[in-house]
Amino acid sequence: MTAITEKQAWWKESIVYQIYPRSFADSNGDGIGDINGITDHLEYLAKLGVDVIWLSPVYQSPNDDNGYDISDYQDIMADFGTMEDFDRMLDKAHSLGLKMVMDLVVNHTSDEHAWFVESRKSKENPYRDYYIWKDAKDGKEPNNWGASFGGSTWEYDETTDQYYLHCFSKKQPDLNWENPVVRKEVYDMMNWWCEKGIDGFRMDVISMISKDQSYADGIVRDGLYGDFSPYVSCGPRVHEFLQEMNKEVLSKYDLITVGETGNIPVSEAELFANQDGSELNMIFQFEHVELVPGKIGKWTDKKPPLEALRKSLTKWQTTLEGKAWNSLFFDNHDQPRVVSRFGNDSEEYREVSAKMLATLLHMMKGTPYIYQGEELGMTNAHFESLEDYRDIESINAYHQYVDNGILTAEEMIRYLKEISRDNARTPMQWNDSENAGFTTGTPWISVNENYKEINAENELADPDSVFYYYQKLIKLRHEYPIVVYGIYNVLLPNHPNIYAYERVLGNQKLVVACNYTKEEVACSLFADYDLDGEDVVANELISNYKDHKLGILKPYEARVVLYD
Ligand code: GLC
Ligand code: CA
Repeated sequence: MTAITEKQAWWKESIVYQIYPRSFADSNGDGIGDINGITDHLEYLAKLGVDVIWLSPVYQSPNDDNGYDISDYQDIMADFGTMEDFDRMLDKAHSLGLKMVMDLVVNHTSDEHAWFVESRKSKENPYRDYYIWKDAKDGKEPNNWGASFGGSTWEYDETTDQYYLHCFSKKQPDLNWENPVVRKEVYDMMNWWCEKGIDGFRMDVISMISKDQSYADGIVRDGLYGDFSPYVSCGPRVHEFLQEMNKEVLSKYDLITVGETGNIPVSEAELFANQDGSELNMIFQFEHVELVPGKIGKWTDKKPPLEALRKSLTKWQTTLEGKAWNSLFFDNHDQPRVVSRFGNDSEEYREVSAKMLATLLHMMKGTPYIYQGEELGMTNAHFESLEDYRDIESINAYHQYVDNGILTAEEMIRYLKEISRDNARTPMQWNDSENAGFTTGTPWISVNENYKEINAENELADPDSVFYYYQKLIKLRHEYPIVVYGIYNVLLPNHPNIYAYERVLGNQKLVVACNYTKEEVACSLFADYDLDGEDVVANELISNYKDHKLGILKPYEARVVLYD
């Protein structure tokens, strides 16, 4: 009886939950979340109903960028525990029916990785070509590129009188993917993890692994450095490399794979996540979380307007239809909290707007990702003082722009409060005891002050909580094929306040309507069905309000109705 025509897959039918281990749960009181802390809370995730866990990096790392700078891919960071702890966590997850995705960070390593320690010793060292080394140009850096975490992308190394490339911090030297030996090392390491029984990879900045070999200067936008994107993003060999990785590793196992590919056009996404499966299952694109250009780079305090959000999400939903698979997310460890950014985190509207945004996202086509605490409606930390920030990107940007007189201190703090990655990195709020039950010690980053009200224990005791709303959205996806496979069409495409769309599968139709504002808004969409629920043709699947007003959507109201 199924009307599904496209190829079905378990990873299309799954919901993924991202854990940022440093901030999830601390089991030994040192103030840092760890693997045993995760193991202790797996039942909570099983209760939420997710299928897959994506674990941000837990590998050995000097922590310049919280684990995204790896010094040993086959060992665990001491702060997080041991490989035995990892194995125990993986076994327990599997016994609860949860799959485990590893973060694969192979655009760069740490400068403390043994490969780089060797590489910098001499030009003749067998590891020299594992990284990208260049001579000075006119007595200066090889080109004008600016690194993502500030400064030049080039770091001078006295020993051999050359510069090495680092697109992120200087402790994150870029690997040289032109070198086949590097690629083989990466594939061997990936196979090792697959043999251990992990279930997939989230691939960090994977669109950046192939560099245009011209290394030409970039356009200067911030008055300081050139933009490397045209030479680094989707470089000439990126698809060749991923197809090779697919052949050497991915195709041998039944995995879920998602590539982080910032700033790419839809046409590239069609290649990365193509339906014939020669590269990855899906990608993270960031257009919908970068709608408001900052005064400089990402630094802004403006709320994304509905019109731009609808246009962007609709473009990705419709253009990839039948060609490639979407991922669905608002939050991750690099983004501010969705309820603070797109919704309303005031006491009055926090819950209802968090539920509205969850509905908007989870009823779309693609694989949804939930970032830890999102299911509680956790909010931005809104830290007021630079001392509270821990994130290398935030701290470096502050100095780069404030110390150089490009932004005032007051202005930069205002942006950090809205956009800094640390807004998502404050400890998970488990209960109302000291430090939100995250640690018995001193947390590595302050707990959000609102933990006494917003925490898992409270929400588990309240059937109307944001937690149970997410649980219900997850159940709907598992129960109704139309939520997974239905085709997306935008409705009311020019409405100033309502985001509405339908999903269509065979002769079934799902109508989703979300009020993006805190005002009541007239809405004609559900005029044709009986609000008493006696009409047999339509069936309300979920809403963030118990009762409705005829022809009206209440503040931040979301409603999903199935027409059979
Ligand atoms: C990705 C990660 C981010 C990290 C960067 C460098 O964007 O998500 O957290 O800082 O890559 O590895
Ligand atoms: Ca710990």
